[in-house]
Amino acid sequence: MKILVVGSGGREHALAWKLAQSERVQTIFVAPGNGGTATDARLKNIAISDPAALADFAEQEHIALTVVGPEVPLAAGIVNIFRARGLKIFGPTKEAAQLESSKDFAKSFMQRHHIPTAEYQTFADLQAAHAYIDAKGAPIVIKADGLAAGKGVVVAMDLHEAHAAVDMMLSDNKLGDAGARVVIEEFLAGEEASFIVMVDGKHILPLATSQDHKRLLDQDAGPNTGGMGAYSPAPIVTPQLHARVMREIIVPTVQGMAKDGIVFTGFLYAGLMIDDHGNPKTLEFNCRMGDPETQPIMARLKTDLVQVMEHAVNGTLDSVELEWDRRTAMGVVMAAAGYPDAPRKGDVISGIPPETADSVTFHAGTSLNDKTLHSSGGRVLCVVGLGDTVKLAQKHAYDVVEKIHFDGAQYRRDIGWRALNRKH
Ligand code: AMP
Ligand code: GLY
Repeated sequence: MKILVVGSGGREHALAWKLAQSERVQTIFVAPGNGGTATDARLKNIAISDPAALADFAEQEHIALTVVGPEVPLAAGIVNIFRARGLKIFGPTKEAAQLESSKDFAKSFMQRHHIPTAEYQTFADLQAAHAYIDAKGAPIVIKADGLAAGKGVVVAMDLHEAHAAVDMMLSDNKLGDAGARVVIEEFLAGEEASFIVMVDGKHILPLATSQDHKRLLDQDAGPNTGGMGAYSPAPIVTPQLHARVMREIIVPTVQGMAKDGIVFTGFLYAGLMIDDHGNPKTLEFNCRMGDPETQPIMARLKTDLVQVMEHAVNGTLDSVELEWDRRTAMGVVMAAAGYPDAPRKGDVISGIPPETADSVTFHAGTSLNDKTLHSSGGRVLCVVGLGDTVKLAQKHAYDVVEKIHFDGAQYRRDIGWRALNRKH
């Protein structure tokens, strides 16, 4: 069987790596892929990105199943295009992807269906936005309505920062159409966790929990990034909290979409803020897997992912029971010099050791030129370590990180600190 994975990041490398472990797979195409997918003999990169051209390719190659990694092709309607041509694909339609592609859509959806989230209002008018900020006070959070590649959220700790964020989006148009409307919402304090499930339109299959590290520097300092590391499971998500998130957030979301006439299929990712009393609220929805959360999650998945995906596209996820490695998986991102503002490209990467039973390195912004690996993006690699304890998983990850070299590499030394500090 041939499978197509759409995307080029660490998330897609991890998905392709896991799918390739299935005995039923002949070839996995990755479009466009990266230096890691280029070096794995079971995977084949193809330089196509246009959704209609990808559908042509899937038809010609008799691709049994397509899995989409990033949000941009989903928001552009790749699932609608594939389905219209009778091609099997796992992901949300363009309509369903609005849960991620429009913050205003997501917020009004949550309000309508009583899904816990921060209080908010949406503005296109500059003066009204400024007035709302003055009325509410700081800290306060300003979000561009549309997709902004991780640059659309400003958590303003003072009024000056809040007003400047609104000016940047509504007046200076720094984010283009994505920032033509802004959601201004209440600041929520607490600890974040990533709660990701698979949905087949009807049934919901939760994946293992995880926790990301959004800030660039140790101790959660520095600018926001796409994510500097993640581990799974996230101990903050106790079985009780898990049940509550399913009951209060995930199930009402899938049912609410159906009530609104939109059948949700694909990965559904709720970014949670959990307060000191253990109450969860939804910070955001993504309609795809997280990056880097996918890397540790896939490292722990024991079940054949091809089989799971088949159930997902056939509407039979209720018959799947996932089996997980009981160990902790810890993913440490190695990013390029200058990330996140202006990542440098073209640095030679050396020293990546082969995969072992307790570590694997996924590529993100890498490319293979003349048999040499070069950096080609902001987040370059994600090294995953596995261990019976959080500490051991961390050690296995950092042992590998220290063997890898590229000029200007940036990585956090403290991935996993929340789990390590937890008292059980
Ligand atoms: P988002 O893209 O909506 O997940 O926002 C990016 C990051 O901004 C989140 O992971 C949080 O760290 C932070 N954030 C978003 N919304 C809020 C909020 N209402 N209160 C506090 N922090 C937030
Ligand atoms: N790691 C956060 C995200 O994928 O959105």
